[in-house]
Amino acid sequence: MKVVVDNGACTGHGRCYTLAPDVYDADEDGYCATSERDVPVGLEAPARRGAAGCPERAITVLEG
Ligand code: F3S
Repeated sequence: MKVVVDNGACTGHGRCYTLAPDVYDADEDGYCATSERDVPVGLEAPARRGAAGCPERAITVLEG
């Protein structure tokens, strides 16, 4: 499973890294610093919650 963040669409709501701090990182301005990452085993649920929680729908979850 992989998450892809459209960093151009991110406006810094911060819900992704608040809901899933082990999946998404914040930059110093509060934007999501993660662009693309393979989700470690066991973190799939928070990764999905973080993606679903983004008001800008900037995060895509690629299953598999
Ligand atoms: Fe950005 Fe969405 Fe996270 S706007 S900081 S990717 S919740």
